[in-house]
Amino acid sequence: MRIGILTSGGDTPGMNSVIRAAFIQCQNLNHELIGFKHGWKGLINNITQEIPIDIIDQKDQGGTLLGSARFNPLNITDHMSKIKNTLENNNIDCIIAIGGDDTLGVANALHQNNIPIIGVPKTIDNDLESTDYTFGFNTAVTTATNAIDQLKSTAKSHERIIVVQIMGRYSGWITLHSGIAGNAHVILIPEYPLKLNEIYHLIQRRYNDKNKWAIIVVSEAYEIPDDEKSNHNITQEKDEYGHIQLEKLEIAKKIATKIKQDLGFDTRSVTLGHTQRGGSPSSFDRVLSTQFGLFAIKLAHESKFGTMTSLKGSKIISVKLKDAISKLKKVDLESWAQAKEIMMI
Ligand code: F6P
Repeated sequence: MRIGILTSGGDTPGMNSVIRAAFIQCQNLNHELIGFKHGWKGLINNITQEIPIDIIDQKDQGGTLLGSARFNPLNITDHMSKIKNTLENNNIDCIIAIGGDDTLGVANALHQNNIPIIGVPKTIDNDLESTDYTFGFNTAVTTATNAIDQLKSTAKSHERIIVVQIMGRYSGWITLHSGIAGNAHVILIPEYPLKLNEIYHLIQRRYNDKNKWAIIVVSEAYEIPDDEKSNHNITQEKDEYGHIQLEKLEIAKKIATKIKQDLGFDTRSVTLGHTQRGGSPSSFDRVLSTQFGLFAIKLAHESKFGTMTSLKGSKIISVKLKDAISKLKKVDLESWAQAKEIMMI
């Protein structure tokens, strides 16, 4: 078999480890692996890239050696004929698409049009329902936790409240986990928003002669329930999948300003941004992405198209692509209850 592989959407630590494992498994099973550049763009425009043999020995430094893009091929009028031509020109029998919900949605649409395709889920946001974890999440949580740890000493020295803005789109997983791991004093996620007076109560309860500082973590899509002015009322250009840049809403800055105005405390805000997507994957993510890469090639070998690799408990299994994209995974009530217990609410 000749198997094509591509990485699409926001880059995620661990993408190169999937490619490496897929390359190794292709050698084990006598298949050939060909890369397509910049996600779906490569497939539409027939831009291939050889996978270098020395990938076997390389440490995953993060990013993706194939490049990535938020490019939606379904917006191209004659996308099906272009993709079929690319597959024919390169004698490709199957495509492995490494991506998040947008990419996997496209993969499913192509599968419905008889393109042999297998999905590998990635995203730092961990918001895909059909897998317990996506790779990249653990690395992003580690990066955010380290940042929270570092912000504490400066918050303490200057007796400030620092509000830290964390990625994750409309799911609060990175904020929740890094907030718990970093002992943040207030955790704000879009699924279960706290009112301003609840946030103020938590800060005031903590503020005494000994503790005149605090760390608040907030998800980029957070909206304050009782404060229309701070919320998402700006118009913004959308990307090819209809997403706005949530970072630009500056919710951390808005919360910091409100606290200063209403409580008089000295505040600062920090946006962690793309640091959470960069750098080498954690060992957990290296293992998970390797397991996904190995398994994806096995699925291709067995012609199990229209499926996606998934982690369930400690097992790597396959799920149907159409089920995988049916719903986003939001923070559940039980996980939020734990965060509330930690915040002593
Ligand atoms: O989906 C991953 C993610 O990092 C989100 O957490 C974030 O909102 C978005 O991508 C940022 O996208 P971009 O790299 O296009 O600015």
